[in-house]
Amino acid sequence: MKKEEAKDRIDHLRRQIMEHNERYYRLNQPVISDFEYDLLLNELETLEKKFPEFVTEDSPTLKVGEDTIKEFGQFPHKYPMLSLGNTYSEEELREFDNRIRKLVNKDVEYVCELKFDGASVSLVYENNRLIRALSRGDGNTGDDITQNVKTIRSVPRLISSSDFPGELILRGEVLMTRKVFDHLNEERLKNDNQPFANPRNAAAGTLKTLNSKVVASRSLECFIYNIIGEDLPFATHYDNLLQARKWGFNVADSIELCRNISDVTRFIEHWESARHELPFDIDGVVIKVNSLRMQEELGYTAKSPRWAIAYKYKAEQVSTRLLSVDFQVGRTGAITPVANLEPVLLAGTTVKRASLHNSDQIELLDLHFDDTVYVEKGGEIIPKIVGVNRDMRDDNSRKVEFATTCPECGTSLVRNEGEANHFCPNYLHCPPQITGRIEHFISRKAMDIDGLGEETIELLYKEGLIRNVADLYILKKSDLVPLERLGEKSASNIIDSIRKSLNIPYHRVLYALGIRHVGETVARTIAKVFHSIEDLMDASPETLTGVREIGPKIAASLTEYFKDPENQEIIKRLSACGIKFTAENIMENTDGPLAGKTIVISGTFDKYSREEYKIIIEEMGGKNSSSISANTSFVLAGENMGPSKKGKAGELGIPLIGETEFLELINK
Ligand code: IVH
Repeated sequence: MKKEEAKDRIDHLRRQIMEHNERYYRLNQPVISDFEYDLLLNELETLEKKFPEFVTEDSPTLKVGEDTIKEFGQFPHKYPMLSLGNTYSEEELREFDNRIRKLVNKDVEYVCELKFDGASVSLVYENNRLIRALSRGDGNTGDDITQNVKTIRSVPRLISSSDFPGELILRGEVLMTRKVFDHLNEERLKNDNQPFANPRNAAAGTLKTLNSKVVASRSLECFIYNIIGEDLPFATHYDNLLQARKWGFNVADSIELCRNISDVTRFIEHWESARHELPFDIDGVVIKVNSLRMQEELGYTAKSPRWAIAYKYKAEQVSTRLLSVDFQVGRTGAITPVANLEPVLLAGTTVKRASLHNSDQIELLDLHFDDTVYVEKGGEIIPKIVGVNRDMRDDNSRKVEFATTCPECGTSLVRNEGEANHFCPNYLHCPPQITGRIEHFISRKAMDIDGLGEETIELLYKEGLIRNVADLYILKKSDLVPLERLGEKSASNIIDSIRKSLNIPYHRVLYALGIRHVGETVARTIAKVFHSIEDLMDASPETLTGVREIGPKIAASLTEYFKDPENQEIIKRLSACGIKFTAENIMENTDGPLAGKTIVISGTFDKYSREEYKIIIEEMGGKNSSSISANTSFVLAGENMGPSKKGKAGELGIPLIGETEFLELINK
């Protein structure tokens, strides 16, 4: 790979990984599997090794993810809470063993443990008392979750033994059993709360709850897997764990002392199937060097110990029966087939539905009703059908045919050439398309109208108050107040927010219209070339395709959209309300308040995320850069800015501008 290509790929991977970190650690809503995440991280690590000149101090390969919450006090970890290197292959495990034996020049004993799938916690004991419990946080500083952890029954608050060291730190995993998880989710559904995706998210989410009574009601468990201190009772990890158990800590019965790597692989094989009998989820096995002296000798990388590795199990597969297939209609009219399955337990959750993607997928599987299908939790959180057991098929079973008409409005479906999805073409009158379009219109990156959730939009639609996006602008407070769940205050906020959206610049309005294939970037390009909606509506398909980045598919979609008299009417009405349909307000790169400025973003922020600041900077004509150089105009400096960036900025005399000052500068 060429240097430049590598740099682009590294930037791209970093951005992706950081986004997934945010979803996993802070939002508890991961969208990819651990396996896929590990693939991304591995690729980044390999590239950084090959091109060390592109390693930056904020690279996710050097940092563990962050999960601190402002409302909790934060506290530094006396010893950093690191992550673990991991592998999915026995071969790599043997390499790990070879590496270690070579480094210490001796035979090595290992301790095998289960890799609990929960949230890690660090317990600080002083004079036999639990004085603090911290979440992992960014690895160096964690949230003070003492009150919450004190509600966990398996965490002793006081140790009676006289041989307990004056100061000791125990690390472990807090988790929720599947039984508690299922029960909790049932309750949440009853109360119209969003269910947790899996027990791990439920445990992590519970620990972050600000009300420890809620935590107490959720019967969390805590397993101890590491003991740290100056004054440890034994010279081996295994003996220390046994001692911790004697002191009253919950150390899993499954821990095993292994004399060599073959013992380790036997342990792994055993738990690969035995894990299903456990009352909680594990996602692998952790292998640790037993001797503490050897551990010390082997040491640490920036992110993980060299004396331990996690062997992770691949996505689980189960078989179950296909009951029926639903066809769901999305915002753009795309039809997604969804399989209804006989409920089956898969990776800790009961699966009743699985995605089938599109008609090609159904064809490929040659799916029949009543088929025995294999379901896997792979890439996405939503499980998918990956195969059919033909041997189990009844000869008389009926083949699954793709819907021919829209299940919501009855219109005949179409499939455009070269496209994978079927569409309902009745986009103006098909209910989920109408509400979906309105939801898109008000979303943050579009018109950014607050206070109107999916449910409220559907309610407004059902009540006949809105039929299209232009109707939003004739809503009155008195229309909203009587609606279920809305009060005076929310109604006022919504009306205010709708009014504020009149200032949204033209390119975002274009994006908000929800024209097929017109995403944020295309909308921006269009706005730069066609400075008013009239110019755009007058443009022929040839003129449109003359613009770089606009291909025949986008051009056809635009032409079709503007040809429709109802869309023309909506635009006329939006325009009459004062929505911006001319480019005067979009900041061209040469005339924004940040024109000509190169800005480096560092640290964390309150008002907007880093990603949002990047967009803001570009919208205002500035350029983002990831490293500080003499060309940097200033650093947008948030909290916890890295020390080396700070040093470099100081050295070069580059000003640091705080968040508030920055927002004042751009008048936001
Ligand atoms: S040892 C420095 N042992 O896995 C060693 N971790 O990927 C760090 N985990 O943050 C951890 N079970 O939350 C260790 N038996 C076990 C574990 C375990 C689960 C989690 C822990 C850690 C993550 C690392």
